[in-house]
Amino acid sequence: MKRIAVLASGSGTNAQRLMEHFAQHPLAQVVLVGSDQPRAGVLQRAWDLHVPSYLFAGKNLRDGSVLRELQGQRIDLVVLAGFMRLIPAEMVHAFPGRIVNIHPSLLPMYGGKGMFGEHVHRAVIAAGETESGITIHLVNDRYDEGRILFQAKCPVLPSDTPGSLADRVHALEHAHYPHAVESLLTA
Ligand code: GAR
Repeated sequence: MKRIAVLASGSGTNAQRLMEHFAQHPLAQVVLVGSDQPRAGVLQRAWDLHVPSYLFAGKNLRDGSVLRELQGQRIDLVVLAGFMRLIPAEMVHAFPGRIVNIHPSLLPMYGGKGMFGEHVHRAVIAAGETESGITIHLVNDRYDEGRILFQAKCPVLPSDTPGSLADRVHALEHAHYPHAVESLLTA
């Protein structure tokens, strides 16, 4: 049985889908939810689904504590689900091809430092794009630049606000992320 850790900084709707998808799964299970934000909604979601959580400070990423925790828990795959910090090179090298991220745009457009959550959707609308979507990619030590595994598109409507576009993109994320993670496990 493969052991998945999910790292998230926010509400955690994607993390919840992942925990639910792998709850009774023959190949893998989410055994840990890590967060750098003490008030993140994802911690409550993990509690509700009886998945152990691990709270850490940003500096714990850089000083190797988070890596030691993941190794100590014999984690096979690290899944970022709305995790807003850069993964240090040491961790990327410790999990080669085994850290995956989801981004709410069609990378390489609207990626990079500072491009997360509603900032992305606001920029997409401001640029007059007619389509947006999601990107699921492997993580390297630069924001949003690892190898792309999967993309899916959705329209951007003239009436869209950042919130309405975020809802459409979230629906795509929820539909595809668990399956993309599953494909990576069996690859
Ligand atoms: C998701 O839309 C995810 O793509 C995005 O944060 C949101 C988290 O939502 N990630 C990034 O912007 C990473 N650069 P959630 O907490 O409801 O899963």
